[in-house]
Amino acid sequence: MNRTLGVCYYPEHWPESQWAEDAARMAKLGLTHVRIGEFAWSRLEPRRGAYEFDWLSRAIDTLHAAGLKVVLGTPTATPPKWLVDEMPDMLPVGADGSVRKFGSRRHYDFSHEGYLEECKRITLALAKALGDHPGVTAWQTDNEYDCHDTTLSYSPAARAGFQSWLQRKYQSPEALNRAWGNVFWSMEISDFSEIELPNLTVTEANPAHVMDFRRYASDMVVRFNKAQADIIRVHSPGRDVIHNFMGRTLAFDHFAVGADLDISSWDSYPLGFLEDRSDQNDDWKQKFARAGDPDFQAFHHDLYRATSKGRWWVMEQQPGPVNWAPHNPAPRDGMVRLWSWEAFAHGAETVSYFRWRQAPFAQEQMHAGLLRPDSIEAEGFFEAAKVAEELADLDGELDDAAGCGDVAIVFDYASAWAWEIQPQGREFDYFRLVFDFYRTLRRLGLSVDFVPAGTQSFDGYRLVLIPGLFTWAPGLPDAIRSHDGHVLIGPRSGSKTADFAIPGKLPPALPDDILGVRVARIETLRADTPVQVSGGGAFQFWREFLELDAGTETVLSAEDGVPALMKQGNVHYLGGWPDADLLPGIMKKLSGEAGLSIRELPDGVRLRRHGNHVFAFNYGATSFNLADLGWRGEPLLGRLVLEPSGIAFTRLVDAGY
Ligand code: GAL
Repeated sequence: MNRTLGVCYYPEHWPESQWAEDAARMAKLGLTHVRIGEFAWSRLEPRRGAYEFDWLSRAIDTLHAAGLKVVLGTPTATPPKWLVDEMPDMLPVGADGSVRKFGSRRHYDFSHEGYLEECKRITLALAKALGDHPGVTAWQTDNEYDCHDTTLSYSPAARAGFQSWLQRKYQSPEALNRAWGNVFWSMEISDFSEIELPNLTVTEANPAHVMDFRRYASDMVVRFNKAQADIIRVHSPGRDVIHNFMGRTLAFDHFAVGADLDISSWDSYPLGFLEDRSDQNDDWKQKFARAGDPDFQAFHHDLYRATSKGRWWVMEQQPGPVNWAPHNPAPRDGMVRLWSWEAFAHGAETVSYFRWRQAPFAQEQMHAGLLRPDSIEAEGFFEAAKVAEELADLDGELDDAAGCGDVAIVFDYASAWAWEIQPQGREFDYFRLVFDFYRTLRRLGLSVDFVPAGTQSFDGYRLVLIPGLFTWAPGLPDAIRSHDGHVLIGPRSGSKTADFAIPGKLPPALPDDILGVRVARIETLRADTPVQVSGGGAFQFWREFLELDAGTETVLSAEDGVPALMKQGNVHYLGGWPDADLLPGIMKKLSGEAGLSIRELPDGVRLRRHGNHVFAFNYGATSFNLADLGWRGEPLLGRLVLEPSGIAFTRLVDAGY
């Protein structure tokens, strides 16, 4: 595989006379891909039907002539004013009932049939006009579904769509009433047209109602994406269809969208995310302010790799300060290079920087590019150049396939919705729970793969984790039963039916031959009221009272003697949310039993196995000697003494695996 670099470019922002020079500089820098077009609708169709594609065609010609491959974006994230004025009910409506207006981006409702048709129309027109251009090698559908919280809309279009969706699902109002438990609080309906959206209720809406609305809203994103992908495949054959996901975005099922993509990609803004989307305390944020969280990028690399059968990119890589977080520091020297290599270590095909030149106008004028607004190289430019040189020297060394990780974690978007709908305790957040497990594994030097809840087999994994899975997908219990590696389930897994009720056989509601344990009751805890667990550490936030069948084993107990971790054969169940003292011990024990070799790492150092190689990354501010982990001889890239922002990779055997 050729690992490649790219950049996001907006020809419509610059005079045409500048394009050729830009293209030549990109190619000289060692970039091979350019993404363009994704916000250009007002220039592509200034008035209904008045297509103006010539400029875009000339831009593609120019880039192609410089040897660059174009990723062409559909412009559907930014419907133009004339279109919004034609059908103002395409605008999304917030949970508070107010219309989200024109004037930025993503101002559309996924449920709006008329807007969907408009998107198909512009996609078809573009694909017909430019889809066979030899410079176009891939497409990006829309831009960052759900960015700015745009999956959920409480519009009349959403209500109508939701009612039909429910009718298809339940067939009769009685079946819906039964499934949702609508006898409670006299919520029964006698016709699907009576169904309201679950916003603006006096107190909380029925969780089953909200859950179905979340499923419906996710399905609308899938439908929207597929409509474009289908058109592109017909009219621009042989080109990859890509979408760029965002970080910590859970409102739609990325596995379901990914099923219609050739390549998943995501937009990686490590410093913005640390400030904006991290659960860590201020000390941690200060420590990694110029580096980013050492696990956040990797988490998404691993998650999104799983959403499209392994092929994935970073479509937008932060090159310098962004403009949208509470604080926007500059990356420490070397971090842009590190982030780029880290993506490749997790199997990325392409890393594309956002953006070529900083725009001196409009919303993102304070956002860095590879070039300053005056076209002089910015810091990120030189780091990209270094990565390009290193790739030219070393790419041939690296295996194509990432290979199987040490540990699989089941990741499930519906579980994120479930616990958002019914956290029961303020801190119960699915992403945060899974991220705690992920970080703990990475601190032990392990490489992780994510798998969806519908997985039928865990072959190849010596350890599988299933934290916080709200309900069992068909086939998953069998996959657990037939797995001969170790499995850790819980907390809160299997605690609901698919209809959002407590299962008749109490949670985790697995057959007794898999797990003879019942969660008799639960409690949630203030952050300052942990429950100690034998052997050190505690449960925080969430704690369960387990009843064990005969023949099962208590591995750890809580301070009051209630089983905390139990075991039956190779399956463990954990009855609480483990804190940072408890979880590492559990993971070390299970990894040891599973025969995985672990290496305890400092906060800022991380490893990633890739094929027959292993990479090391230093997010920390002090050097780290890889010889302490058993690495022998100088690495193929980097040094044994890993400097701050340092990268190294070597062969597995030279790293003592
Ligand atoms: C992304 C988006 C880009 C740009 C960038 C700024 O979320 O896709 O268009 O806005 O953020 O960091």
